[in-house]
Amino acid sequence: MANLNGKVAIVTGGASGIGAAIARRFAADGAAVCISDLHLEPARALAEELARGGGRAIPVAADVTDERAVAELVDRTVAELGALDVMVSNAGIGERPVPIDERPAEEWSRVIATNLSGVFFGIKHAARAMKKAGRGGVILNMSSILGSVGFNGAPAYSAAKHGVNGLTQAAALELAPARIRVVAVAPAFIRTPMIAGLEDAVLPLHPLGRLGDASEVASLCAFLASDEASFITGVSYLIDGGYTAQ
Ligand code: NAI
Repeated sequence: MANLNGKVAIVTGGASGIGAAIARRFAADGAAVCISDLHLEPARALAEELARGGGRAIPVAADVTDERAVAELVDRTVAELGALDVMVSNAGIGERPVPIDERPAEEWSRVIATNLSGVFFGIKHAARAMKKAGRGGVILNMSSILGSVGFNGAPAYSAAKHGVNGLTQAAALELAPARIRVVAVAPAFIRTPMIAGLEDAVLPLHPLGRLGDASEVASLCAFLASDEASFITGVSYLIDGGYTAQ
């Protein structure tokens, strides 16, 4: 177990899939967790589950494409849980595989707004709160193998995740003097609702012969968020069953 005792974390997109696994793992490792999502009800249900297990968790509805909502999310977390030590910008959406020469501009913009601009808003407002508190912090940004390679039929998603890796590096340089570490996490295909129906098609792309589990991504995030990872910043960590090694 990583030690997150006494830390306060926000997980965006925390009501489902990888985000829910991160929230569960952080709570098990001793953190107080703000579970934030577009959808309040599943976030509330998870917060109640964590509270029943002895954890401290609050649900907050916030759309990461709305800067004001992200600012309020950070402020509410600091007000209700007392601090912000770890920001996990995990919320993200997939992309319909339509030919690029027929792709509607609004679909492109929605993926960039959620998967890239949402991460920028997370960094911006977490850094504001962390600098004010003056005790450093950790910002984890959910990237993907598609931050390193492309995927046929997913141009906006691939562009956004490549953007997350660059944004992570630039922000890490700028925030290092404030002792704020910024790290990207880059999974291959993980069994979650996002990839429902795609599992059989993408499974052979993974040399380990299986898809990843959300709890495996959560383990990496718990390590990166902990003081065990105190010299790690400005990098993207692949967790991909060998996907990008070939
Ligand atoms: P998921 O669909 O299970 O969960 C995503 C969550 O984000 C949902 O609860 C959804 O309500 C929330 N969300 C969507 N748009 C939002 C918005 N505008 N504001 C706030 N919340 C919003 O997806 P999954 O698989 O857990 O994905 C989580 C992250 O992991 C995403 O950034 C995704 O791109 C990334 N990822 C997923 C992989 C996979 O194979 N499942 C592989 C690599 C990266």
